[in-house]
Amino acid sequence: MKGLVLSGGKGSRLRPLTYTRAKQLVPVANKPVLFYGIEALVAAGVKDIGIVVGDTREEIRAAVGDGSRWGASVTYIEQDAPLGLAHAVLISEGFLGHDPFVMYLGDNLLNKGITPFVEEFVRNRPAAQILLTRVSDPQMFGVAELQGDNVVRLVEKPKVPKSDLALVGVYMFGPEVFDSVKQITPSFRNELEITDALQNLIDRGCVVRPHLVEGWWKDTGKLDDMLEANRLILETLERRVDGSVDDTSQVEGKVVLEAGAKIVGSVIRGPVIIGSNAKIERAYVGPFTSIMNDVTVQGSEIEHSIVLEGSVLSELSNRVIDSLIGRNVRIVRQPVKPSAYRFMLGDNSEVGIRW
Ligand code: DAU
Repeated sequence: MKGLVLSGGKGSRLRPLTYTRAKQLVPVANKPVLFYGIEALVAAGVKDIGIVVGDTREEIRAAVGDGSRWGASVTYIEQDAPLGLAHAVLISEGFLGHDPFVMYLGDNLLNKGITPFVEEFVRNRPAAQILLTRVSDPQMFGVAELQGDNVVRLVEKPKVPKSDLALVGVYMFGPEVFDSVKQITPSFRNELEITDALQNLIDRGCVVRPHLVEGWWKDTGKLDDMLEANRLILETLERRVDGSVDDTSQVEGKVVLEAGAKIVGSVIRGPVIIGSNAKIERAYVGPFTSIMNDVTVQGSEIEHSIVLEGSVLSELSNRVIDSLIGRNVRIVRQPVKPSAYRFMLGDNSEVGIRW
């Protein structure tokens, strides 16, 4: 059994962060989303893994390396343009050969892993097996219609969904899928859709089996989903305080404080993770916040947010909430008149001022 992780694509819904970084490397609880997928594959016994990469190939390679840290072997597969999930399968035929494989979308997160899903596929050995979950907005996903234990129809982002069963970004295939990805044509969004390849398998009389997700699933491609995933993962952390906390500070509940982090005159209320060499001074860090390495928060309050490496929040008069702050961002109060906002924001930034 091989693994195919998709880490190409554009990441347009997480701009401006994804101008400078792969969306699969945005961290959830201070760990890149992509690593959770690789770990889920390895836990299911899948260690020969191909990673499809596009424009952000260098950054993905630098972060993942050869896979040896997980006891896996990683092969990189270059996709010249994001022409669709089925296109990613098509260009990976050389790596996959005739082996059955698990395809895992690099921005998806499943808390219970994929081991029972892989075991069920091995037991029944259909042409394909898909993972499904009930959602309130099926028109945003690939949607499946079932008859008993079989999938009878699949449509990508239907305007009028026939069910609320969305395709989760983990699929299992036998080599039968290669004929299907060669037969389909590009969709309304000009991509070779894996949903159409699955429908093609069904039309050719092959068996496509459904498996319902156990636990929660998140596609982290959008801000709200990213924050929600961060909240869900932080809730599972065990308290570990390796950094320093001075006598005037309180560190309450599930808090991970990495070595070299410094808390001075502050209140940290978990679930929270704070990376190495971060400095939290005269500040409040509230529940569901992930603060990465080398961040400074001074004289400010923050909760339900993610702050990436090297950023500074200083002397802010209002609490920062529900935010995703990129690398080396400075949000700093300046004691000069007139009292006004001063911004230097990249393209597609989003600032929400609430009152
Ligand atoms: O998240 C589940 C959904 O994922 C399914 O319900 C849909 O049926 C499926 O088409 C897919 O929809 P998205 O529109 O969310 O896919 P997205 O473009 O975000 O791509 C998913 C991952 O695959 C992402 O990590 C980028 C990568 N990718 C995408 C394309 C189009 C590639 O590596 N190459 C590509 O050509």
